[in-house]
Amino acid sequence: MLRLTMLGRAISLCLLFHAFQTEGIRLHHTINQLKNNDSRALDSVDGPTKQNMISLNSNLIMVTSSRQDSSSYDEPCFAVHQTTPRGPGNNYYGFHATMDVYGHELKPGQGSSTGIWVNHNGNGVTSVLNAISVGWHIYPDHYGDSHPHFYTHWTRDGYKETGCINMDCPGFVRANGAVIAPGAVIHPVSDVPEGHIQNITLKVLKDKTSGDWWVYYGFNTIPTGVGYFPNSLFTYLAEKANQVAFGAYVINDKTLPTPPMGSGALPNGGQGRAASFTNLRFIDQDGNSSPITADLPELVTEEKCHSITPIDNAECFYGGPGGCVK
Ligand SMILES: *[C@@H]1O[C@H](CO)[C@@H](O)[C@H](O)[C@H]1NC(C)=O
Ligand SMILES: *[C@@H]1O[C@H](CO)[C@@H](O)[C@H](O)[C@H]1NC(C)=O
Repeated sequence: MLRLTMLGRAISLCLLFHAFQTEGIRLHHTINQLKNNDSRALDSVDGPTKQNMISLNSNLIMVTSSRQDSSSYDEPCFAVHQTTPRGPGNNYYGFHATMDVYGHELKPGQGSSTGIWVNHNGNGVTSVLNAISVGWHIYPDHYGDSHPHFYTHWTRDGYKETGCINMDCPGFVRANGAVIAPGAVIHPVSDVPEGHIQNITLKVLKDKTSGDWWVYYGFNTIPTGVGYFPNSLFTYLAEKANQVAFGAYVINDKTLPTPPMGSGALPNGGQGRAASFTNLRFIDQDGNSSPITADLPELVTEEKCHSITPIDNAECFYGGPGGCVK
């Protein structure tokens, strides 16, 4: 349960993006402030299954924190771009991105994840969040190894009761002849520092006829359908998505250093080549994709540890070294 809780928890924090992006407030500090201020409420909760809810009532946005399960973990560090979920123009029917894949030696208690999100935030309350995420991650706690794995993830209630990664619960339906299964190892990985890049291209696309959310995967090549999330899994996402996001996050047990993000190199003058996202594309109701030409709001929780560059011509760089002192 711990690892799934951590994954869900990390992603729940993404919900905070839009609370802070415009003001440019650092998410990390804000969470700590809230926690400190709310320590009485948090301390009154015990038992491993109890969830603490901290409400930022100004935005109707909540952080769920399963304190008992995750108390040994630091706050996750994010470097992501995301669209703002409010407003009439926010209609998404898919997302497309190519991302490099890297290998790192991680220990149990560390995780490093890169991916894309297709969400519908419903009325803004966490418990109705519908979300699909796909990408690659290194998660020794979950897989018992330190290889990058292709993952799929879904929820329709803000990661509370519904959803899971890969095929761990009913949800994702594999396609006949799929080139990869959720959870499978991605091999080979990009060379560091020689720079021979291995990339995966991922596409999440709402099928116009069935309404199912298809996942496409391609290793150094054009993606093909590997399966789908049935439309019936979802509430709000049954209609469309109203937010897309992409980027990376790392988590670590408090006793361990932060693991590398991306290639392990910081973009913008860092040592070595930072990991990239390329071919960043929105997909509209008719299944047509268009490159992202304007920058999107970013969320970076620990700027000196990890960062992400502005989107330029449907591309950007991100990442950071491990062992960063926050
Ligand atoms: C902390 O709690 C006090 C008392 O409830 C409140 O007045 C104050 O605004 C809170 N501070 C923050 C940063 O939320
Ligand atoms: C991804 O890898 C393939 C095969 O090496 C290469 O041809 C392609 O240019 C790469 N794509 C990007 C966007 O880097």
